[in-house]
Amino acid sequence: MEIKNDLILRAIRGEKIERTPVWLMRQAGRILPEYRAVRNSVSGFIELAKTPELAAEVTIQPVDLLGVDAAIIFSDILVIPEAMGLPYEMVEKKGPWFPSTVNGPSDLKKLRIANPQEDLHYVLEAIKITKKALNGRVPLIGFAGAPWTIFAYMVEGSGSKTFSKSRAALYLDPEFSHKLLDMITNSTIKYLKAQITAGANLVQVFDSWAGILPPSHYAEFSLQYIEKICNAITEVPVTVFAKGAYFAREALGKINCDTIGLDWNMDIKESRTLIGSEKALQGNLDPAALYGSDKSIVASTQNMMKAFEGSKHIANLGHGVYPDIDPEKVKLFIQTVKTY
Ligand code: CP3
Repeated sequence: MEIKNDLILRAIRGEKIERTPVWLMRQAGRILPEYRAVRNSVSGFIELAKTPELAAEVTIQPVDLLGVDAAIIFSDILVIPEAMGLPYEMVEKKGPWFPSTVNGPSDLKKLRIANPQEDLHYVLEAIKITKKALNGRVPLIGFAGAPWTIFAYMVEGSGSKTFSKSRAALYLDPEFSHKLLDMITNSTIKYLKAQITAGANLVQVFDSWAGILPPSHYAEFSLQYIEKICNAITEVPVTVFAKGAYFAREALGKINCDTIGLDWNMDIKESRTLIGSEKALQGNLDPAALYGSDKSIVASTQNMMKAFEGSKHIANLGHGVYPDIDPEKVKLFIQTVKTY
């Protein structure tokens, strides 16, 4: 189906665009009272994500209510560990928690390569319903976690300040680490391809914990697997968002993806120099900037736009929007990009 607002896709291809496209990481979620209303009608996040009609509804909310130039399917990166045999729970106010973790080679036996058609059928169904309801208004973004970030949750069992267990595993048992990363990578490739077949117009790989690895480990245990994913996904544009991996920008510029996400610590001009001019850059306003006054939001957004001027750019925040941000402030950010 033809997409009416294809600004993002044209920006990535380097075609002529009327204005810079804009969306927000984590736009489908708690910032919207309309989301909370749907969320409160079910037992929790996981039930919502596993009910395709409702997942589609909250996916489309930010398109209707905020005016973003893309929808991102409502799901989570942690559906992959679950599909591999490691279910998760979402603990209110705490975040994800895995009752069982992967601690060494013998635990690999309890895992399998995900079969998206079976194990993640609910996401594929949500994508199909969303596409039908969007009726070509904006592109739909599919996504997955980067293998290293997923590895970190599977070994750790939850979020962590230091991710000591998962980082220890890289030193203690690199062979086991590579085996698990390989299983995650193969699962992720199948999953992204299934999302694309179901209707995703582009996909993003979130490496949220990229920044906690030393550069040599990043090359060996993360980037290598992201590259494998990028090489396998030939159907649609791929975005790689490696939060905190400022040391890897030059290397990221060389991989087979179309867009690189920048977090708010990354200097825009310096990033462009390191990455080169070919890839689109996405980002990167400090999410905390949206706590500011209207005047300061306009000023910081315009500063960001100016720094990206003249090169392929998709406007976004430098990480997911914080849940306590006023939707009016988000709208002001979007409006400022659209009228720049
Ligand atoms: O971007 C979107 O709007 C689409 C949906 C989406 C969610 N999670 C929904 C969600 C996406 C793209 C994600 C990605 C995700 N999930 C990442 C990568 C991006 C990033 O933020 O770095 C990570 C690390 C996770 C893991 C995760 N899921 C955590 C740590 C948490 C708890 C803390 C938090 O941010 O809320 C979640 C829960 C989660 N995922 C919620 C939503 C809407 C909140 C659940 C609720 O409704 O209570």
